[in-house]
Amino acid sequence: MAESFKIDFQPHGKVESGDLIVFVGDNLKPTPAVAKLIGSKAVDLIAKAASAENFKGKPKSAMTIVVPNGLTVDRLIVIGVGGEKERADVDFVQLGGLISGKTNGKTATAVLDLPGIQVSPEAAADIALGVQMRRYSFDRYKTKKKDEDEKKSAARLVLSVADPAAVKKVYKARESVLQGVNLARDLVNEPPNVLGPQEFAARAQELTKLGVQVEILDDKAMKKLGMGALLGVAQGSVRGGRIAIMRWNGGKANDKPIAFIGKGVVFDTGGISIKPAAGMEDMKGDMAGAACVVGLMHALASRKAKANVVGAIGLVENMPDGNAQRPGDIVTTMSGQTIEIINTDAEGRLVLADVLWYVQDRFKPKFMVDLATLTGAILVALAQEYAGLFSNNDELAERLAVAGKSTGERVWRMPIGPEFDKMIESKFADMKNTGGRFGGSSSAAALLQRFVNDTPWAHLDIAGTAMGSPQSEINRGWASGWGVRLLDRLVRDHYEA
Ligand code: BES
Ligand code: MN
Ligand code: ZN
Repeated sequence: MAESFKIDFQPHGKVESGDLIVFVGDNLKPTPAVAKLIGSKAVDLIAKAASAENFKGKPKSAMTIVVPNGLTVDRLIVIGVGGEKERADVDFVQLGGLISGKTNGKTATAVLDLPGIQVSPEAAADIALGVQMRRYSFDRYKTKKKDEDEKKSAARLVLSVADPAAVKKVYKARESVLQGVNLARDLVNEPPNVLGPQEFAARAQELTKLGVQVEILDDKAMKKLGMGALLGVAQGSVRGGRIAIMRWNGGKANDKPIAFIGKGVVFDTGGISIKPAAGMEDMKGDMAGAACVVGLMHALASRKAKANVVGAIGLVENMPDGNAQRPGDIVTTMSGQTIEIINTDAEGRLVLADVLWYVQDRFKPKFMVDLATLTGAILVALAQEYAGLFSNNDELAERLAVAGKSTGERVWRMPIGPEFDKMIESKFADMKNTGGRFGGSSSAAALLQRFVNDTPWAHLDIAGTAMGSPQSEINRGWASGWGVRLLDRLVRDHYEA
């Protein structure tokens, strides 16, 4: 789906025809090496053009000089990296996105020699990743392709770097992650008629090509396991529910796995507690948690991560129907605990209750992280800037926070605890599925916690970050692919041999 650039890494010093991209600080000067490459006349030209354009070399700003006098290139694109303070924490992936956005479909050469910034092979590979992430678009259902798109597919980008061989090696792993991100984006963008639980499970099954073991549980299997909560949600749809279990065993044979669990509601009408019509089409994205887990498993398997990882996704459609579950119904979960349904639109936690229990029971993982577009309330609290993080384990929470900081997928820790747990006490059953208007994200998390046993666990509420997110340099579409890079990073930093 993504029309990626053809990226080549070359040593510094060579410049092809086409566009040339260079970087300057807030003094409008490139590095001495770049100054030498383009010549003193071009350096002066940058200063003159900057003054005419009011370009100050600030981070995220750029200036284009068309057919620069004295150079053989078509355009000289000058990107700012700012002053000393701003250079201290550059987001290289975002910078790559910015570079991507400045190209116009011809050949361009970006000289990754940045004033005051050390561009390690890791950093250069991150820039290349950002370049490619920006290129993603979902146009499978547009029968009339625009000219621009056609041009796009011819694009080629040369990244000139200090040590091309070293960068290429790191970039290989980044390409795996890129594929994972774009797979997650594709799954979220797909329309709900095309991607039902069964079709989604089939997409997960395709990971077998990468050496992932995939098992699918259908309604019958789930019934046998006693998954009354998940099945209660699924029963209103003519399309049955599924669980897909993906296993990547790249670690030591006896090493306990780590586990990622995703909410996969392929469409959430709300069920009998039906949602208002406005914006309901967005609920095709209510499987973004599951999409992230599939994208992550793809990334890990493709880059042959040295870790044992379980991915499990609960796939259902939440529909109103003559056979749909009602408010007042009481369902029995696989754990044996009962849940009174107050609102059939609080369905994600019901799905996760059974999948979380199943995963800890069967795999005894080191930890479980679940991702779910779980509550509208998390948007009220954190807008689309942060995902909500809920955890029973400080170390795991901290590791997620650090990983998120480094990939730019930020998480914010939210509270759980007895106060919120009390909100889901039921008159008739062990618990009810909603906890009232206040603290809705925390009472939802409190329900999930009842199904993790003593397993270290974290829940990421991604209702705000997974879709319709604010546009950034690396995300121009609806589905962001949120979480794939974050969790890949978590695995890379802490759980690989
Ligand atoms: N899928 C929704 C949450 C959601 C809202 C995701 C907006 C993405 C964007 C979830 O199933 C839901 O409907 N939650 C309800 C819970 C309520 C009934 C307790 C909500 O947040 O309103
Ligand atoms: Mn819902
Ligand atoms: Zn939902």
